[in-house]
Amino acid sequence: MRDLSRSNSHYRKARRKLPLGVASNFRYWGDDQTIYVDHGKGGRIWDIDDNEYIDYRLGYGPIILGYADERVDTAARRGMDVGGVFALSTELEYDVACRISKMVPAAELVRFSNSGTEAVMAALRIARAFTGKDGLVVMEGGYHGLSNVVMWGKEYDDWTPGDAEPPIEPYGDGVPAITKRLFNLVPMNDADALEDLLKKKRDEIGMFLMEPIMGNCCAVTADPRYMRDVREICDRYDVLLIIDEVKTGFRVAKGGVQELYGIKADLCTFAKAIGNGYPLSVVAGREDIMRQVGDGVAHGGTFTAHSVSLAAAAKTLEILDETTALADIEARGLELQAGLSDILAARGIPHSFTGHPALMGLFFAEAPPANYQEWAHSDYAFYDTLAPELHNQGILVEPDSREPWFLCESHNVECLGETLDKFERAVDITLPKLKSQKTGTRQ
Ligand SMILES: Cc1ncc(COP(=O)(O)O)c(C=O)c1O
Repeated sequence: MRDLSRSNSHYRKARRKLPLGVASNFRYWGDDQTIYVDHGKGGRIWDIDDNEYIDYRLGYGPIILGYADERVDTAARRGMDVGGVFALSTELEYDVACRISKMVPAAELVRFSNSGTEAVMAALRIARAFTGKDGLVVMEGGYHGLSNVVMWGKEYDDWTPGDAEPPIEPYGDGVPAITKRLFNLVPMNDADALEDLLKKKRDEIGMFLMEPIMGNCCAVTADPRYMRDVREICDRYDVLLIIDEVKTGFRVAKGGVQELYGIKADLCTFAKAIGNGYPLSVVAGREDIMRQVGDGVAHGGTFTAHSVSLAAAAKTLEILDETTALADIEARGLELQAGLSDILAARGIPHSFTGHPALMGLFFAEAPPANYQEWAHSDYAFYDTLAPELHNQGILVEPDSREPWFLCESHNVECLGETLDKFERAVDITLPKLKSQKTGTRQ
C-alpha cells in the first residue's frame, strides 16, 4: 500500500469548502483514495505524498504530448502577453481554424468555445436550427458532457438479457424531466435499430450524436460497415450526423476518428487534445450548416478563444500536424498492448483491446464488447481488483473500467518497460486476491 496520508488529510479539509472535496465529481475516488496532485511532467504525475505515477489517464485525454510540454508552454506564455480576452477577436483564431480545416476535411467552418460540453451544446443548437427538428439520437454508453439534454441513459446493472429494456433515466438529480422528450437511444453496431427508430420518428429527430470509438465506454468501437450504414441512413432520413471527437480528435489520427473510418460528419466537436491541456473546444462542420451561426443561431462567450488557450492550441496542432508525434504514440501503444498481452497470456487470462492504441480499452474476455449492453454484462471484476493494485505500484489508470487508457508522446521506452514490470506485479497480486474473493477466504 502506498502512503496517502497527506492526500487523506487534505481531503478532510477540502470537503469542508468543496462538495466531495474536489472540483469535479469524477475526481472523488472515495474518502481514503482521493488523490491530490502536486505536479505533472511528461507522462508522469506526483501526488502531494510524493508518490510517483506513470499516468495513463492524462486528465481524461487532453494531454497528448506530455504534462508541462516546453514547446506548448512557451507558446502559452506568449499568449499571456497578448492579454487574455478582449470581447474582440484576434488574428490567431483564423490561423487555428485553417489548421483544423486542413487536418479535418469535414471542418469546413469552425467556431471555438472552452469545454467539450459547450461545443456539444453548440453543435446540437446549430443542428436544430438547420433541420427544424428538436429530437436527437444518442448511442448507448456514449458521454457528451453535462448539458441537460444529453444527460440521459439506460442503467444495465440490474438487468439480464431477456428482461424488458430498462427505462431511460437521467444521470443524476436536477436534470429537467422535460428534456427526456427530445432524447432517443440506439445501441452501437446495430444499423437496423437506428433505421427503425428514424422510420418512426423522422419528423421529430434531426441529429444523431455519436462517437465511433466510445471514449467513456471501454473504447467500444464501431464496425466500419456500421459507420458506412450510419452515414447513409442519416442522409436518407435528413438527420445530421454529429461525430463527437472530444476524446478522439487530434489523438487517434491527424484527422481524428473520421480519418480512421474515411467518413465525414455533418458537424463535429473537438476539445481535450487540441491544446495539450489548455482549455479550448471546437464545433465545426459543413459550411451550409455552420452558416446558421450568425444567421439566427446565437454562439459566443466571454472566455471564447482566450489568447493563452489559442496560442497553446496553435502550437499543439502544429506539432501534431507537422511531426510524427501521433504515429509515434500509436506505435508505442501497440508495443504496450503486446507487452500487456504477453503478461496476461502467460497466466491464461483472456483479454482483448478495444479502440485505438492512443485511447484503448483493456477488456477481460477474448472478444471485445460490440455495444454498451455487452460491456455492462461482462465480468469486470478482474479490472476492478487490478486497478487499485496498479495505483499502488505507481501506474495510474481509471478505477472505472469504462474509462480507456490514454497515451501521450512522453510515454517513452523507459515508461513502457516500467509499466510492464509493474503491471506484471499487480496482476500477480490480483490473481490470488480474486480467488480468495470468489471463495470467500481472507487474504
Ligand atoms: C466524447 C465527449 N464529449 C463531451 C465531453 C465533455 O467535455 P468537457 O468535460 O470538456 O465538458 C467529454 C468529456 O469527457 C467527452 O468524452
